[in-house]
Amino acid sequence: MQNNSAYYTRTAQWLHWIMAIIFIAAWVIGFYSGNFLSYDVDGSFKGQVITLHKNIATVILFLVVVRIFWRYTHPAPELPNTMSPAMKFAAHAGHLLLYIMLIAMPVTGCLYSWSAGHPAPVLYLFEIPRLVQENPELVEIVKPLHVYLSWGVGLLIVGHAAAALKHHFIDKDNVLRSMTRQKD
Ligand code: HEM
Repeated sequence: MQNNSAYYTRTAQWLHWIMAIIFIAAWVIGFYSGNFLSYDVDGSFKGQVITLHKNIATVILFLVVVRIFWRYTHPAPELPNTMSPAMKFAAHAGHLLLYIMLIAMPVTGCLYSWSAGHPAPVLYLFEIPRLVQENPELVEIVKPLHVYLSWGVGLLIVGHAAAALKHHFIDKDNVLRSMTRQKD
């Protein structure tokens, strides 16, 4: 299926920006807790911050299902012909990696929480049913996985945003506008 429009659909645009806000908020809160708070000094405040991190981040798991369905049924606009084949390949590979991270981050987060004996709550409303029991050996695997992936995705997001700004301000093409508008 081909997209003949130069713009993403309104639904795709909303999904992109809402998920960007949620994902970046979850990232910043997780990074703050993981690197600037400790149970010894901050006590229950750290617990509250991690709980906030989880309640926000689990929403990504639900939205990514809708997003993948929408992306599959409503293809993205073509990249500009001014881009070399190598740049187009890099852009597609980057986007694929971002989709993989939208799944990998909440999945490793939930596995980390469950295997450490804690819940995976959603918007302070309900908990995702536990798929694994408390398991210290699994914690040793999924904890570093979640942390290292979070650093990788942090770099990926910075690169993604820098590329979008380069398209807009240096190449002066339609790439950033395709995610914000419907018409010229
Ligand atoms: C949108 C998805 C997510 C993102 C972007 C994300 C990002 C992060 C980041 C950046 C950190 C700090 C890493 C570090 O120590 O440097 C972190 C830690 C953590 N994350 Fe996530 N995370 C996500 C989903 C989840 C989910 C769904 C859960 C559990 C239900 C979770 C549980 C945790 C826990 C328990 C920590 C450790 C916090 C601490 O030690 O203070 N994460 N996450």
